[in-house]
Amino acid sequence: MNTKFLDIFPIKVMNKELGMDIPQLEKQCLDYMRNNIGRIVTNRGGYQTNELPKEEFPELIEKVEQTCSEYMKEIFKADVNIKVSNYWMNVNNYRDYNLKHNHPETLLTVVYYIKTPVDSGDLVLANNPMVHWWGHPYTRESWWSLGWYNSPELFFQPREDTILIFPGWVDHHVEPNLNSDEHRISIAFNTYAPTPQ
Ligand SMILES: [Fe+2]
Repeated sequence: MNTKFLDIFPIKVMNKELGMDIPQLEKQCLDYMRNNIGRIVTNRGGYQTNELPKEEFPELIEKVEQTCSEYMKEIFKADVNIKVSNYWMNVNNYRDYNLKHNHPETLLTVVYYIKTPVDSGDLVLANNPMVHWWGHPYTRESWWSLGWYNSPELFFQPREDTILIFPGWVDHHVEPNLNSDEHRISIAFNTYAPTPQ
């Protein structure tokens, strides 16, 4: 008898260092924050910019677009030039966090980390909500260990100068910054694949 197991509908998450000038980027972010009022969307506390002008971080946008194109090549084995549609900066101070959300009408969600002191808040990606159909894992028998097939969430500890890319429909939230001395800075991007001319 021939037995087969198939892993269907996987989610690919890409993680890559970009080699940017982090001290310069941090200074630029803090200068921008001092001179521009923010908005409240998913952020509870902290500071989030409105959509940033394209000319504010052109080198970063270029690297994000290149890296997203690498992601698409990995999945589809085709050359696609992904573009950034809009982007914004987040600064989370002590106890600030972001509610669970996704990025509607976005091909790939991207986040780039500029400042991530210890305990400043993991990024938490949610599994398909139907995983709860199997019941809460902690109440199950000893054979029920958490893994790819039953974990409701996956925690990523962000690293400075690192980009994280995943599909726009994936729910995620940011844990509170429990570092009372230092802030956490990230820049998030929405992306799209342009229609071929
Ligand atoms: Fe997000």
